Amino acid sequence: MIHCEGLVKIFKTADLEVFALQGLDLQIETGELMAIIGNSGSGKSTLLNMLGGLDRPTAGKLIVDGKDMLKFKERDLVNYKRKCVGFVWQNNARNLIPYLTAQENVELPILLTGSRKRWRAKDLLDAVGLSHRAKNKLYQLSGGEQQRVAIAIALANHPKLLLADEPTGSVDSKMSNQILDLFRELNRNMGITIVIVTHDPELAKKVDRVAAIRDGKISSEMLRRRSYAEELALLEQDDSDSSHVEYAILDKAGRLQVPSNYLDTLGLKNSNKVRLEMVDGKIVILPPEEKEE
Ligand SMILES: Nc1ncnc2c1ncn2[C@@H]1O[C@H](COP(=O)(O)OP(=O)(O)OP(=O)(O)O)[C@@H](O)[C@H]1O
Ligand SMILES: [Mg+2]
Repeated sequence: MIHCEGLVKIFKTADLEVFALQGLDLQIETGELMAIIGNSGSGKSTLLNMLGGLDRPTAGKLIVDGKDMLKFKERDLVNYKRKCVGFVWQNNARNLIPYLTAQENVELPILLTGSRKRWRAKDLLDAVGLSHRAKNKLYQLSGGEQQRVAIAIALANHPKLLLADEPTGSVDSKMSNQILDLFRELNRNMGITIVIVTHDPELAKKVDRVAAIRDGKISSEMLRRRSYAEELALLEQDDSDSSHVEYAILDKAGRLQVPSNYLDTLGLKNSNKVRLEMVDGKIVILPPEEKEE
């Protein structure tokens, strides 16, 4: 579904350039439900905006659903946003209109596309488990319920790809679980590819694949050992980190990013050279040799 290679995004302001994405590589399969985690400012929203066609990469390769986004004309972008992707924003106010009811909020984007299928709003609210709150004004709903209205809206155009930026940022862990369950259900029942940006490691643990982003680059990936169903049984007692295997990223040129805590432990932080040796079929990383006096 998504192929990013050496993706670069530079924001230019009057007095400085920000390198928000610095050669990011990422593949996402059709029908996948995955999470992207990373610290504030690491480039998560920037990446999501590129995937959603809301902003253009500065350089690199970005293919979504077989389409080369760097070759998109303005009209292609509009089409893409209208037909292929659904977006749940980091900031709730950007999704919703507070003085309309839940149902009116969902009807609005449907009517704006020129469709008369107002009734679809009911189906969509049903799909996110909110039909009983359809007549309530937005401000009368809880944060999690509002977020579900936002998800219903994101689904209005039958997207193949659903992008969610911190969808559980402002709700408690119970509600956050419910929202994740909803994503899982949409993923399974409708086959929508879903990418969730979060900095909540608890949420990330509950999807099959997590890519960690650091300084605008994917720094590692965690893949689930067992299926989520098997996991659920264990989840109650087990809160260790054993649910995922962590992988470092090896790029096409053979460059490897070593986790910074390893470098710290070995005191390699201030050195830009290491020795590599092959020992028993394993690659061993060693500090530089001490100079002889
Ligand atoms: N429009 C912009 N103009 C200039 N700099 C920007 C712009 N948008 C983002 N940046 C910068 O790019 C970097 C990445 O920002 P981004 O919003 O992608 O981070 P993030 O990982 O989503 O962070 P958070 O978790 O806080 O939402 C930051 O240094 C940010 O200041
Ligand atoms: Mg962000």
